[in-house]
Amino acid sequence: MKRNYNRRELLLNTASLASLSLLPGASLSAALIETPRQTSGPFYPTRIPLDSDNNLVDVEGSESPAEGQVTHIFGRLLDTSGRPIRNAQIEIWQCDAFGFYHHPRDRGGVADANFQGFGRTLVDSSGGYRFRTIRPVAYPGRTPHIHVRVLGIGFESFTTQMYVAGEAENDNDFILNRVRNRKARDSIIVPLEAAPEIESGALAGNFDIVLGLSPTM
Ligand SMILES: [Fe+2]
Repeated sequence: MKRNYNRRELLLNTASLASLSLLPGASLSAALIETPRQTSGPFYPTRIPLDSDNNLVDVEGSESPAEGQVTHIFGRLLDTSGRPIRNAQIEIWQCDAFGFYHHPRDRGGVADANFQGFGRTLVDSSGGYRFRTIRPVAYPGRTPHIHVRVLGIGFESFTTQMYVAGEAENDNDFILNRVRNRKARDSIIVPLEAAPEIESGALAGNFDIVLGLSPTM
């Protein structure tokens, strides 16, 4: 019986064929590039902030927004077959617009009080998530990045880091350079583009997170 594919299925199908032609013997269930794991680093919050929602630009009780360029990060949490992973929580944390974390080991107390620094959200039924944060900036020794952690039922917690396409320091970053596979590396480097349709003056980027597992759902 003829099956009508929707556009997304067609795109996934093309990806499957591409991976098959590159990897003889690979199964259709290995269609998407697995997001590489990266260290969580030393600056995961010691205390989760009272306001820990997915809008890191506005802290409840603060009169001013965070310093920095507002950036919307969104994407989907998927398995390598392209199926959404549901019932999962995504956390992000990053330094403020001046390169300081809300963390006692990072010259504690000087980070922008109007920047939340950490946020979390549940994925929706299609694995979708979004954050409103600031464009990540460099700090000594690191190219701009956002730390990402995924927690869910039936799999081990997963951490990685998201990078910004076009940053000169990407090539020299010792943590990004641990990812040797070109496609895996590219999968964590995200173009950030002006997105006036979302918010005036803001950037936006799509970061799909692909977990190499078959979670029990
Ligand atoms: Fe970091």
